[in-house]
Amino acid sequence: MRSLIYNKYGGPDVLEVADVEKPEPDENSVLVRLKASSVNPVDYKIRRGDMKIMSGKKFPKNAGSDFAGVIEKAGEMVAGYKKGDEVYGFLNPMKGGAYSDYIIADPANISLKPEKFSFEQAASMPVAALTALQALNYLGNVDEGTTVLVNGATGGVGSFAVQLAKGMGAEVAGVCSKDNMKLCKDLGADEVFDYSSEELIRSDRKFDVFFDAAAKSTFSTSRKFLNNRGIYVTTIPGFWVLFNRLFNFFPFKKRSKFIMVKSSGIDLTILTGFAMTDIVKPVIATSFKLEDVADAQVLAESGKFRGKIVIKID
Ligand SMILES: NC(=O)c1ccc[n+]([C@@H]2O[C@H](COP(=O)([O-])OP(=O)(O)OC[C@H]3O[C@@H](n4cnc5c(N)ncnc54)[C@H](OP(=O)(O)O)[C@@H]3O)[C@@H](O)[C@H]2O)c1
Repeated sequence: MRSLIYNKYGGPDVLEVADVEKPEPDENSVLVRLKASSVNPVDYKIRRGDMKIMSGKKFPKNAGSDFAGVIEKAGEMVAGYKKGDEVYGFLNPMKGGAYSDYIIADPANISLKPEKFSFEQAASMPVAALTALQALNYLGNVDEGTTVLVNGATGGVGSFAVQLAKGMGAEVAGVCSKDNMKLCKDLGADEVFDYSSEELIRSDRKFDVFFDAAAKSTFSTSRKFLNNRGIYVTTIPGFWVLFNRLFNFFPFKKRSKFIMVKSSGIDLTILTGFAMTDIVKPVIATSFKLEDVADAQVLAESGKFRGKIVIKID
């Protein structure tokens, strides 16, 4: 079978399609024939070597984390899934492997894909939409009437965050580039701010939750946008966020937290529910073939796209 691998850290040209042995599931896992994957910043950050401390020096490495496909074989002890089920999920990005024809998945980390979505749409969701869901729900405690600011509201994580926060009953403001303001409104944001203008900075607007989906702010510059007991959640922690976490006995009135997305079949099932009730619909920028993942990552690194870039595997 085909699998995208790389033998050293570097630019997109280190990626190569290898012919590798098809994996065999054990009694507790499932073999999934993949139909689609997508690109997340973590995939190219690992490839570039930005996360060497965690990804290590062992090569070859497998690439890709998000996946959607069809179960080809379920281990004898697997309950709840069978051959032919259409599923989606994500693999540990440090190990990768989703830019392949087949993967082995843990049934606890997958869910049935939303029936109304194509494999490409489903594969665009796991990392980005789970990050948004877990950040808003478990860290931000977003509920009916919560006021939420989403920074980077039309990117992979942000586009899901705006829709999910609206679905949870929040009042949502989005921050994005001028070109993407209409899309942000279409996603459901009640208010939209252009990050290159001073409008938000000059305003005295305050929110219950500031979710920095794009990781472009710091807690110290963002706390002025928080209500008294407001929560700042970021996807990449800076010093004060880590400090706050380590010394969380400190009686900060405004709290900062960071999200580390966790693979979870239960949370994916919640996402499937949001998808089936039309609360969430992925924004697909464009799609590439498995052989062209390098080009897909070049586009992803350029930032010149909206929503998600998907990979078709066939
Ligand atoms: N900790 C975790 O578990 C976790 C999980 C997922 C992602 N992440 C991290 O989260 C970040 C975002 O991921 P993503 O998939 O959403 O990336 P993405 O799809 O590349 O989106 C990035 C977004 O940043 C926006 N942006 C650029 N400059 C900005 C600025 N100055 N102010 C506000 N927004 C700005 C862009 O908006 P325009 O296009 O409008 O310019 C774009 O929407 C990445 O660093 C990723 O590694 C972390």
